[in-house]
Parts: sequence; C-alpha cells; structure tokens
Amino acid sequence: MEAFVGALLDKMTLDERIGQLNLLSVGFDVTGPIVNKDVEASIRRGLVGGVFNTYTPGPVRKLQELAVNQSRLRIPLLLGYDVIHGHKTIFPIPLALACTWNLDLIEKSARIAATEATADGLNWTFSPMVDIARDPRWGRIAEGAGEDPYLGAQIARAMVRGYQGDDLRRNNVVMACVKHFALYGAAEGGRDYNTVDMSRIRMYEYYLPPYKAAVDAGVGSVMSSFNEVDGEPATGNHWLMSELLRKQWGFQGFVVTDYTAINEMTQHGTGDLKQNVARALRAGIDMDMVGEGFRKYLKQLVAQRTVTEAMINQACKRILVAKFKLGLFADPYRGCNADRAEKEILTPENRQAAREIAERSFVLLKNSGQTLPLRKSGTIALVGPLAADQRNLLGSWSAAGDWKKSVSIAEGIKQAAPALSVLQAKGANLVDDPALLLALNAAGGDIALDKRSPQELLDEAVAAANKADTVIAVLGESFGMSGEAASRSDIGIPEGQKELLKALAGTGKPLVLVLLNGRPLTLTWEDAHCSAILETWFGGTETGNAVAAVLFGDYNPSGHLTATFPRSVGQIPLYYNHKNTGRPYTGDPRAKYLSRYLGVPNEPLYPFGYGLSYTTFSYSSVRLSKTSLDGGQALVAAVKVSNTGQYAGEETVQLYISEPVASVTRSVEDLRGFQKVTLKPGESKEVAFKITTEDLKFYNRDLVYDWEPGEFIVRIGGSSSQLKSASLRWSKPGALTKTR
Ligand code: NOJ
Repeated sequence: MEAFVGALLDKMTLDERIGQLNLLSVGFDVTGPIVNKDVEASIRRGLVGGVFNTYTPGPVRKLQELAVNQSRLRIPLLLGYDVIHGHKTIFPIPLALACTWNLDLIEKSARIAATEATADGLNWTFSPMVDIARDPRWGRIAEGAGEDPYLGAQIARAMVRGYQGDDLRRNNVVMACVKHFALYGAAEGGRDYNTVDMSRIRMYEYYLPPYKAAVDAGVGSVMSSFNEVDGEPATGNHWLMSELLRKQWGFQGFVVTDYTAINEMTQHGTGDLKQNVARALRAGIDMDMVGEGFRKYLKQLVAQRTVTEAMINQACKRILVAKFKLGLFADPYRGCNADRAEKEILTPENRQAAREIAERSFVLLKNSGQTLPLRKSGTIALVGPLAADQRNLLGSWSAAGDWKKSVSIAEGIKQAAPALSVLQAKGANLVDDPALLLALNAAGGDIALDKRSPQELLDEAVAAANKADTVIAVLGESFGMSGEAASRSDIGIPEGQKELLKALAGTGKPLVLVLLNGRPLTLTWEDAHCSAILETWFGGTETGNAVAAVLFGDYNPSGHLTATFPRSVGQIPLYYNHKNTGRPYTGDPRAKYLSRYLGVPNEPLYPFGYGLSYTTFSYSSVRLSKTSLDGGQALVAAVKVSNTGQYAGEETVQLYISEPVASVTRSVEDLRGFQKVTLKPGESKEVAFKITTEDLKFYNRDLVYDWEPGEFIVRIGGSSSQLKSASLRWSKPGALTKTR
C-alpha cells in the first residue's frame, strides 16, 4: 500500500492532490444528466476526491466511470452517504437502538445497513453519530445513543464493527465516519449549532469516550463538528484535530469537515474563507465537505507559504490510503450492480431483523393495573394523528428510506389481531401551531391540516372511545420535530394532541398512550392520567408490526431509557451521572439553602436505565467476592435476579460504581457494566460482574486517567435510580487512602 500510494502521489500535480481533498454533494437524478456539467468536468480533471448523496447502481457507476475512465490518473471516488439507521430497510432511530442495550443487535443493524448500502454502490457512511447529549431540547439527541459515555462507547464500537467488518476490501462493508468531533451534543440551551464551552475534565470524562472508542475500533474517518471548542470552531481547532485525535489517540484515518464547516468559520468570527482554509488544514482537516474552500485557496496559500505542500500531501495520502483500504483501486465498483441491489435490499430477512430490533427498542414507561398487554378480541378505539401514519415512522434521518414501504401501527394491529374490532379516528392534527407548521413543511414535513375543525376531530375520537373497551392513542412528534436543526424549547406533546388526550382520559376508558418521538418528552400530565405509556420512538420500516407485537404481548417489552425524561423543561440539563454538590437536597420540602427547585422535585420523571416489562423482576442484595482489596486485584459482584411475574421477559441488569471521596469531585454514580438476562416466570439467575481497577479510573485534575484508593459503592439494578448496593475498600500500594 505504501509503495502504491507513494508512487501515485509522485505522479499527481498539486491541483490533483488538492482535488482529492474536495468532497462534493451530487444529488442523483436517474432520468436526467447524472451530475451537473461542472462537477462532471471537475471529476474528469481529477479535482474531486469523493461525492455524496448519489446512490443506486446506475448513477453511482456513471460517476465512478467518469473518475476511473476519464481522469488522468484514474483515481476512484469515495461514494458517501448518510446511512444512519439503515439504508433502505430502516431500523429504529439511533436513540431507540441504544434503548435495546443490545450490542449484537446494534452491530447487526449496521451490518445490514452496510450490505444494503454497498449493494447500492456506496462505500462510505457518515455514521456513527456518537455525540453525548444531556439536553433533550437538542433535536439531534435522536441521532445518538443518549447521555452515558460508557454505553455510548460500547455502541460506537459495535457500529464501527458492523459497518466496517474486519476487512474494508470486502464488497459488503463501508468505511464508517464517527461524528461530530467534538462535543456537538453540548450546544448551549439545546439550540442546534450553538456555542459549546466546557471544562477539560468534563470533556474527557463524559463527552470524549465514545469518539475515542470509535477510533480504537479502527474507524476509517472522523467528521468535524459545527460548534466551537475552547473558543475555536472545531474545524479549525489544532488541539482537537491534531493533539488529541492524532497524538493522544493515535488516529490514522482522515478527517472530513461537516457540511461547509470551513466556510461557516467566517460567521463564527475567525476571518475570511482563505484564512480559515489555512487554519483548517493546519489544524488537521483532510477533506472539505461541499465548501470548496480548499480547492479555491490551497494552491495560493502554498505559493504564499501560509501552508506547505507537505501538509497537502499528507492529507491527500490519508485519503488515498482510505481508498486503497476499501479496495477501490482494485475494483472501484466493489461488485455493485442492479442484480445485487435487487437481491440484497429490503429483503424479508432484513425486514424481520428491523422488526425484532424495533420491538426491543420500545420502552414501557407506565403500565398500571396490567392494562397491557391487550387481548386480541373485543373493541379498541385507535386514535391519534400517528395511528395510521406511514410518513413519520422512519424518523428524521433515513435518507434512502422509502416511507411508503413502512408498516403503520393501524396496519400492524389489524394484521396481528384480525378478530379485534378497531374503531379508528384521527382525533387531532399532528401540529396546529401555524408557525411550527410553516417551519416543518418548509423542510418537507408533509403535514396537512385536516379539513374538519379540531372540535369535529375530537368529537369523532371521543365517540369511538366511548364505544371501545380500551383506547389506544398514538401521539407524538412529526419526524421533522427532531434531528438536525430541530431544537424545541417546549418538549411536550403538541397542544392539539394533548387536548385530544385529555378528552380521551375524560371517557374513563383504559387509556394506552403509544408515543412516537425523537427525544425525551415532558410527560408529567400523561403519566398521571394514562393507564399505560409505551415509548416507541421512530421505529423504522417495521414500526407497525413491532408495536402490535408489544401491545398484544407477543413480545414482552425490554427497552430501557438511555436519556433522562425530565418532569419539566426547567430541570434541563438533567442526567443521572450528576455531581452531588455541597448542598444536596434531602427531600425535606421545608429545608432551605439546598440545591433544588421550588415546586418540582429534582428527580426526573423517568430516569436513565428505566424501563418496565409485563413481568416483574426482583433483585437480591449485592454479594461481593471481596470487600477489601489491594492494588491490581479484582472482585466479582453478583446479584440473583428473579422473574416474579406472569410473563417470560428480558431484564437489563445494570452495574454502577460510586466513589464518595476522590481528589476531584465524582458524579453520584457511573455506569460500568450491563448484562441482559432472559427469565421465565418463577425463574432466577445469578448475574455476576467482574470489577477491576480499570472500572475505577477517571480523569484527575491533571487529566491523568487513573484510579485512586478508597471506598467504592457497587450498585446493581434495573434502572439508575433503583439499585441495590454494597461497599468495599480498595487500597493502592504507596498511596494514601482517602476517608469520608
Ligand atoms: C450535516 C450533518 O451535520 C452531518 O451529520 C451530515 O453527515 C452531513 N450534513 C452530510 O449530510
């Protein structure tokens, strides 16, 4: 590879080397000319390193043919796309995938996505998105794994493995691109693209681990983020892109900007495009997405000696190496053809996998009096603007997904329970607020207001409810209300839908709320008034079948939250691994001068790790194999988990560790392990975790990652707020032991 790439670089003109750093978006059009004339000419002249937003074998082959048959050095193109949670078979949104806590299934979803994407001619995906998010106002919380760095890191690894496999040359894997580097999820106020400012300790401890995990797993590329880090746009931040990413972490692949991120540095306030081009390249950016600043200015900047040719050569080499590793020089088409696409995309097996994964991503938030599961007979009222909807099921970021192929909840229910009588009514518009409607529809939301008045819609739904044994209200967000540039300051169910829910609750019938949404919502009223609440996120192509399976108990729900659901927006940011403060609240409402809000508890409505089942699980106390340890020893912490209910079910057993005293303040607890266990009614199993000093490590004030001796509390349970605990002491040769 070295020899091949070296020899190729030697043959390239400076323009051609700069050309490799240029990534263009080319929307495909099967009937018209494949690309605009300009782009065609640029590819022929060897001035384009990659394109994205074109897929399907025909158009992709035509683009690649331009590069390999008509450019001087015949260098193939990278063909990228946002394959985020499936290509054509759409899986649940990433936040939902995380709620499965099932790394094998998450990896499998990426594997299937890669197979379908490569069959459609792609070789590069802009995924996984691993930004930690503690603020559900931020719409892009939908695209990541939630708030926890430990779980986020495991998922990052699983996705990289799923996409890339063990050999990038294989025809059914794609190069992954971990994004958005870095800290994008910490935008102030949850407003997308907003400023980020945080301490290094918080960065290293809570925000960076998932990116690092992707790098350690061998991710081929990294995408810079839109936000600033330490007062510099990430895209021009030398410390981030070179010191941290390459020197500290040893990243070997290439870094691409996010969409026009270099150009946007001007708005951030770091100068004109030419200055920022120099700054980005010097910082360690290799490829310029869409902005064409590199192409426009790098040659001049070399002539002026602001950047060196060596910097350009290095970036170019990294991109050529990626192409080599993908096997593009040997086979630029990587076996893509219409036949293969026909055979491998949206297969029954892939849809089956999407369905199984969707079932496991749903989180049962409430189920009083065993309202669920439902019987497959009798009469239900199925109401709500999302009950028969297909358009919104794929979420905000299913670029190639075809919503017409998705199964609505109404359809799923009817197929699963043919003997059930289903009374359907829309009940409310998805959104009534004109300003919100305008914004959503301008972005392709396809939301039409019903011709009937809100009162007529409501009356019809209430009449149906009155005739039914049980009411199922399918409510939530439209797909455009989460994802990029979809921040909200009110994260409740939209007003008209809430009115509907209130009217339905007024009928006194058992009321099941099935939610579709891309972020944690505030559900305080809903929790108090609905009999059952099932969070189904945006479940992808097989949503309806999966929802039906869970509603009727053909699958017993097992998802657990990976992002906290606050009681009110005023509590945000709210996350389980918070610090204790010097004045923690004691629970006494008369106590003043404590860290609390007046009028709302500190606790969330539904905490991280929470999720119910149709059965119940009980936990024994935590047994430790040792309670006093030295240095490099290890221990085993075990609990007996029993199924004390009526249904077979799967529990996610979570391990948290607390360190009450350390040289820097620690969070009240941190997730350090989890295991899934399946139990029949009455069955018990022992679940054991091995704990080593690796699990005790944290970043101290010098940013050294190490552990300190002292007391540790091991906590195990089925949710971050319901844990059994046991304490131990761990000493370290030569170190003072801290005491409380
Ligand atoms: C902008 C988004 O921030 C990023 O996630 C995406 O990959 C690029 N656009 C390319 O579509």
